Amino acid sequence: MTYKDVYSAWQADPEGFWMKAAEAIDWVEKPSKALFDENAPIYEWFCDAKVNTCWNAVDRHVEAGRGDQIAIMHESPITHSTKGITYRELRDRVASLAGALRAKGIEKGDRVIIYMPMIPEALEAMLACARLGAIHSVVFGGFAANELAVRIDDATPKAIIAASCGLEPGRIVHYKPLLDAAVEQATHKPDFCVIFQREQEVAKLEEGRDVAWHSFQYGVEPAECVPVEGNHPAYILYTSGTTGQPKGVVRSTAGHLVALSWTMKNIYNIEAGDRFWVASDVGWVVGHSYICYGPLIAGAQTVVFEGKPIGTPHPGVFWRVIQNQRIKSFFTAPTALRAIRREDPDGEWINRYKLHDLQALFLAGERADPDTVKWAEEHLGVPVIDHWWQTETGWAIAANPLGIELLPVKPGSPSVPMPGYDVQVLDEGGHQVGPGTLGAIAIKLPLPPGTLPTLWNAEARFRKSYLEHFPGYYETGDAGYIDADGYLYIMARTDDVINVAGHRLSTGAMEEVLASHPDVAECAVIGAADELKGQSPVGFLCLKKGAAKAPEQVVKDCVKLVRDKIGPVAAFKTAVVVDRLPKTRSGKILRATMVKIADGQEFKVPATIDDPAILDEITIALKSIGYPAA
Ligand code: COA
Ligand code: AMP
Repeated sequence: MTYKDVYSAWQADPEGFWMKAAEAIDWVEKPSKALFDENAPIYEWFCDAKVNTCWNAVDRHVEAGRGDQIAIMHESPITHSTKGITYRELRDRVASLAGALRAKGIEKGDRVIIYMPMIPEALEAMLACARLGAIHSVVFGGFAANELAVRIDDATPKAIIAASCGLEPGRIVHYKPLLDAAVEQATHKPDFCVIFQREQEVAKLEEGRDVAWHSFQYGVEPAECVPVEGNHPAYILYTSGTTGQPKGVVRSTAGHLVALSWTMKNIYNIEAGDRFWVASDVGWVVGHSYICYGPLIAGAQTVVFEGKPIGTPHPGVFWRVIQNQRIKSFFTAPTALRAIRREDPDGEWINRYKLHDLQALFLAGERADPDTVKWAEEHLGVPVIDHWWQTETGWAIAANPLGIELLPVKPGSPSVPMPGYDVQVLDEGGHQVGPGTLGAIAIKLPLPPGTLPTLWNAEARFRKSYLEHFPGYYETGDAGYIDADGYLYIMARTDDVINVAGHRLSTGAMEEVLASHPDVAECAVIGAADELKGQSPVGFLCLKKGAAKAPEQVVKDCVKLVRDKIGPVAAFKTAVVVDRLPKTRSGKILRATMVKIADGQEFKVPATIDDPAILDEITIALKSIGYPAA
């Protein structure tokens, strides 16, 4: 079968295609059909089935005789430890944790927030929720207490599971004080918190609210897998939108299982017993789908990596793990490769390791620049496969399906649409444009299984954000084009989301924080091109007349404010004070023009601009902080 055969088979009979893919899943009650379109344009999949995610990711592999195989390998160059957990151990640990959660009142449908670093217990917590049919929401450790509080109020969890600390190179991330501050700040209060004490920092537990991970499991009955309906939410994952209020992407149980299971073989060429590694974080969708669920559903071995591409301790650490763990498919973000390349331009560190088992390197999370792709191909000697997806979709919209056939790689393109996705490029009026023409990228509804059916408690926002602009389509928020061979090129966002080191951030959210400074009258944040991180945020601040503080102090305050309110992951380090912001006559800030100036690109002065002279002021201000970069 070729890619064309597979894609055509899906086009000819989508229902048959997904029902066949569903055969890879162990159902408690089989679905009678795949697509449920009664509430279109809200679509659901496999609704009338009964199934359990944890059973499919863990127990069934033990039943099938894979109990002694390693399920999770923890590689922590920060703590200098390597530790494996077999499928049998994983089942027992997850059943015990789920039993303890159940004994404290967690039931199907209850929300549980998970705030943990890259340790196997993070996956165990996710799987324990799945075992009970509880809905988890994992929050990335690089967010500040305020962001955690916003998520607590939106998801209203009965419990929060956290670790005492996370470990960044040279610094301990004090999770517990962040958790305490978030609970204090939030209006909703969880019934209890479970704290996993790490030896690097033991946290003080709050009596009556906090329980310790190990002791609260003592003497409890292990929990069995609870069957849930196919459209029962497996998890909520918050992602950046256009405002400070993040979007709670909902993932339905059955579609998630079927789609991830299909991708493991067909995209990543991974089957039971294979070893797969994704260097990301469980706080992101990539971590949900391919550190935790995907490889485990396939019965493969996954790696939980607590480290960085460089500095922990050297730029060869990725290759060392690939060698030692005999990794077959590896997946990371382009920014990580750019960081490695900067320290090891000639690939000397790569040559020190034997990468015989590695068949391909997958990239996603941000645009993969052709230079980096070519560098990696040359030094690794394996195909470098860019693929494009979003938190909303949960799996690749476009990829080069290695497990079906390796199509010619075109650096700069994430290749072709996967079955389930009818990807089209539209003009502003919603009409399809021809090959090579730039436009908004949209997907004809319905989206395939595994993608978001809605936003948590926010269906109106779901419709407005994704469905209303182009009726009959899902709007991806990305712009780009399709070439004459059907390859996609993702060029930019159409909204104010920026991508910093593969992390999706909202400039709108940063602006809300800056505007809260008492001396700031008006502000704008843009994403300027960054050689390492892809983009980096730059703030423009207009101060109030008679501002109490000096401009330099306001800039310093603002940098701290974003770190305190959003978190270090925002990487907001640069801002400049200006007299005025460039605007259209109707008062819209011309952010796209400011980006062009920061990036040193040619631009046309917008016809609608109120006062073109402001662009010169912006140019001078940007120059004073080093933009455009040399
Ligand atoms: N918990 C707490 N803080 C975190 C964190 C976490 N899980 N992850 C990152 N941070 C902090 C970093 O320590 C850094 O803090 P600092 O300002 O005190 O230095 C800040 O957030 C910004 O992090 P980052 O943008 O990742 O930059 P970096 O300088 O730490 O590392 C790279 C640079 C290129 C090595 C790094 O960005 C990288 O490897 N990125 C991979 C991206 C990735 O995997 N993305 C997932 C998408 S698939
Ligand atoms: P996230 O939801 O955090 O996964 O971010 C999704 C966004 O990241 C997409 O909408 C794109 O803007 C960007 N993105 C992800 N993968 C790619 C890719 N392979 N090429 C270009 N942009 C990408």
